[in-house]
Amino acid sequence: MLADRILAVERSPFYSIMDLAAGRKDCIYLQLGEPDFTTPPHILEAVKKALDAGHTHYGPDRGDPELRRLIAGKIEKDHGAKYNWEDELLITAGGQAGLHIAVMAVANPGDEIIILVPYYPPYLANAQLAGSKAVFVELKSENDFIPDPAAIRRAITPKTKAMVILSPNNPTGAIYPEDVLGEIVKIAQEHNVTIIADEVYDSFVYSDDQYKSLVSFPGAKDVVVQVNSFSKVYAMTGLRVGYLAASKERLLQFLKYHHTVNISANVPSQKACITALKGPQDCVAEMKEAYQKRRDVVVERLNDIPGVHCFTPQGAFYAFADIRELGVPSLDLVQYLVKEAGVVLTNGSGFGCEGFVRVSYAADIAKIEEAMDRMKKAIVNMPVK
Ligand SMILES: Cc1ncc(COP(=O)(O)O)c(C=O)c1O
Repeated sequence: MLADRILAVERSPFYSIMDLAAGRKDCIYLQLGEPDFTTPPHILEAVKKALDAGHTHYGPDRGDPELRRLIAGKIEKDHGAKYNWEDELLITAGGQAGLHIAVMAVANPGDEIIILVPYYPPYLANAQLAGSKAVFVELKSENDFIPDPAAIRRAITPKTKAMVILSPNNPTGAIYPEDVLGEIVKIAQEHNVTIIADEVYDSFVYSDDQYKSLVSFPGAKDVVVQVNSFSKVYAMTGLRVGYLAASKERLLQFLKYHHTVNISANVPSQKACITALKGPQDCVAEMKEAYQKRRDVVVERLNDIPGVHCFTPQGAFYAFADIRELGVPSLDLVQYLVKEAGVVLTNGSGFGCEGFVRVSYAADIAKIEEAMDRMKKAIVNMPVK
């Protein structure tokens, strides 16, 4: 009665954890995949103004022309890459829609898509929806979850159509070095494989000289599709605006899919994105500084818990803590911590990676400190299995 492609997609165990947490009044939520900051006031004001000005009708399917011009300018300024605003950019309903469109437009049923593990769960769901096979390449904790290009090369077969690369990473917080990304681009060029470059966390990088966008490599446009978003950078997840940057030929095909599903992205929200890009960027700098401080606290406090180890993430707002020494599956630990400590984390197994938990530091420092106190106590007193 229902299609195999949707039945293949599993609902995340995350929801059962949230149900468990709902039973306690004092829970501290460190599972958030979105900024805890309020959307900056000038951006909110721009949405209200757009509504009052009557921008409540369909917009151009490719997206607001002024917004596309601004994004093209930003990509050139930040990464030295030229994208024609008229036909190489598409405004989408968040990065999430961008990812889906890119996979559906690139991969055929039976094709293979390389996904690095741990992965952002929708990558697997998108491969399943496309009827493609997810080919997993493990990222090793001993390498701080930096990919090994040789392992990616080994995973390539004549059926490989795409690979998804995410830096800064969710859930690990890793940032991939330039030489590694350069190798990945070369592999994609040699084998004619599309790189779906998810760069939605690119504004939250804690060491300036490290981050390199995949669009910045020579000849990248032949193989790279950039997925980006306004959600994280401007703390505006609910306004649902993202974009795809790709060659004209690919973008035209993405447009057909986007038009079929969305017609256009949210029009008032796009006006707010114009204000966001034209306005002062101090709000981004302030959020970044706050995340960095929280990161330092989280990493120090996690490493202070017996049996827990955490490397220092360089970007996004997640720490991926190694709990293997505790000898319990990550979902069991997450459930135990909700019940015993009222702290909500995300199990590594939900990202395809057992033995780890994701700690989001999109929460204020006082809450983080309190959560770490509670976690330490609960873990120290955890019954031995
Ligand atoms: C890695 C990654 N990509 C894409 C998204 C989608 O974000 P949005 O659709 O809000 O732009 C998220 C959201 O959590 C994410 O973590």
